[in-house]
Amino acid sequence: MPTVVAIYPGSFDPPTNGHLDLIQRGSRLFDRLIVAVLRNAEKQPLFTPGERVAMLAEIAQGLSNVEVLEFEGLLVDFARQCGAQAVLRGIRAISDYEYELQMALMNRRLAPRLETVFMMPAEAFSYVSSRLVKEVFELGGSVTGLVPPRVEARLQAKMRDLGARG
Ligand code: PNS
Repeated sequence: MPTVVAIYPGSFDPPTNGHLDLIQRGSRLFDRLIVAVLRNAEKQPLFTPGERVAMLAEIAQGLSNVEVLEFEGLLVDFARQCGAQAVLRGIRAISDYEYELQMALMNRRLAPRLETVFMMPAEAFSYVSSRLVKEVFELGGSVTGLVPPRVEARLQAKMRDLGARG
């Protein structure tokens, strides 16, 4: 039987329960799922790539076919290095579609045999994004239930850290 390896790429700054939901779904569908954290020098992330990898590895701990890695450069090149046949992406709402379509078609142009597979997270997470989680948390709102408890603890520690330095 052929083994199907998929890559689930993203910024994951920070990982949310929507991401976790997709990781769980992907781990049931694919033989191996590689969660790939983009090391992006352009954005101003709250968490370092290493911290994001550590959080994702913690929350995916029970899923034996999931591993978490960092990547930089083109996703299609990283997918080739990993021997992946598919890219997994989540679509929450119609507003995600245009950007996702552009990326999927560009990736198809670059690597015609790499398929992008879209999955929908549970509707309870359809409005949850890393950007909003950060904004709400930074302004003192509760993000309980929107991110895994370990991620919430790390958000608290990060804010304490930044507060102490700022
Ligand atoms: O969570 P995000 O920020 O929506 O994820 C975007 C990501 C990491 C999937 C995308 O920016 C990406 O694949 N970047 C790697 C560089 C690349 O391959 N760019 C061309 C993609 S069409």
